[in-house]
Amino acid sequence: MIPAHGGRLINRIAQGEQREELLAAAKNAPSLTLNAREVSDLEMIAIGAMSPLEGFMGSADLDSVVKNCRLANGVVWPLPVTLSSKGGSFAAGGLIKLEDESGALLGVLQLEETYAYDKDTEAQGALGTTDDKHPGKQYLNGLEGDYLAGPVWLLEMPKHAFANDYRLTPRETRVLFKHKGWKTVVAFQTRNPIHRAHEYLTKCALEIVDGLLIHPLVGETKSDDIPAEVRMKCYTTLLDGYYPKDRVALAVYPQAMRYAGPREAIFHALLRKNYGCTHFIVGRDHAGVGDYYGTYDAQEIFGQFTTEEIGITPLMFEHSFWDKVAGAMASNKTAAATKPEDKVFLSGTKVREMLSNGERPPVEFTRPEVADILIDSMASKASV
Ligand code: ADX
Repeated sequence: MIPAHGGRLINRIAQGEQREELLAAAKNAPSLTLNAREVSDLEMIAIGAMSPLEGFMGSADLDSVVKNCRLANGVVWPLPVTLSSKGGSFAAGGLIKLEDESGALLGVLQLEETYAYDKDTEAQGALGTTDDKHPGKQYLNGLEGDYLAGPVWLLEMPKHAFANDYRLTPRETRVLFKHKGWKTVVAFQTRNPIHRAHEYLTKCALEIVDGLLIHPLVGETKSDDIPAEVRMKCYTTLLDGYYPKDRVALAVYPQAMRYAGPREAIFHALLRKNYGCTHFIVGRDHAGVGDYYGTYDAQEIFGQFTTEEIGITPLMFEHSFWDKVAGAMASNKTAAATKPEDKVFLSGTKVREMLSNGERPPVEFTRPEVADILIDSMASKASV
């Protein structure tokens, strides 16, 4: 099985006696309320999805990540994983109780460092822009106070409203792949319903590996992205009707979207390695937003690192579309069509417009069963 990033699959879930001891030790500790992204990060660190991280980053790691795309020890790591103090002050060396917005206790942090960091420097390094309209920069602008760093322990899994049957930790996906006898597994990251272009990429990839893990991101996304619970219905319906049952697994990736384009593509790939995947799909404008990144920036960035450093093999795909001449999905690498009018590309905005008018987009763009789920969800949202 493929080793975890940094060599060791981390486990920061406190159980049994250790959990009791931590609960007792933290009884009188101050509390901090985590935002949605921080709750996701806490869970991802604890289950080992963010191996080798064992906690929220200190200044040496953050600085190195922002400037060099590596942790201070040199291991490739593209994005900040930080915890904001929300303006509170906490004693160094002590424990902090980490709570969600409902006040539920989720875990503890052993505070090693409190530090200030410049938001523009962080945004420029991680996101490649300091534009306040970028959702990642908006997130940073909304943070108050310093960063708090140190190792964490998870005491209680964050409560999830949906898809609980599809929540597999990296240890569990590794067991699943072994059980299925898959030696090579390709992961597919998405924050959208699976349309025909996505289906094409996943099936091309499935031609060359043993298994496919559909691994939709279900943490926080922009408010105009389709909610994860609706997408889950689309995925299960699509998989039932259009994929080989024995070669595909569906599990959720409970992380918040950063919209960091190229650096997030590396992040998504490294974390899927932790889940035991050997290959990772990177298409056009992976994890992009607006016009911040070039169409293939998220593929080119892999060239900055050695194969050994990344450890998981990226499978790169060109922009794909429906080729009217061949009557099939294709990219410019495979299309018979040469004229623009023979290539069916639909923009996300156009599709959303059609769905919200109750119209099914063409079958060349999306499977009708998926379109119907999306139309229903938009209609019920509109009637609320
Ligand atoms: S992402 O933010 O998760 O990257 P999305 O769900 O749209 O967004 O994409 C999932 C994956 O499919 C990404 O690797 C993306 O690059 C790829 N992709 C999406 N649409 C296309 C397309 N038409 N052609 C090629 N790749 C695509």
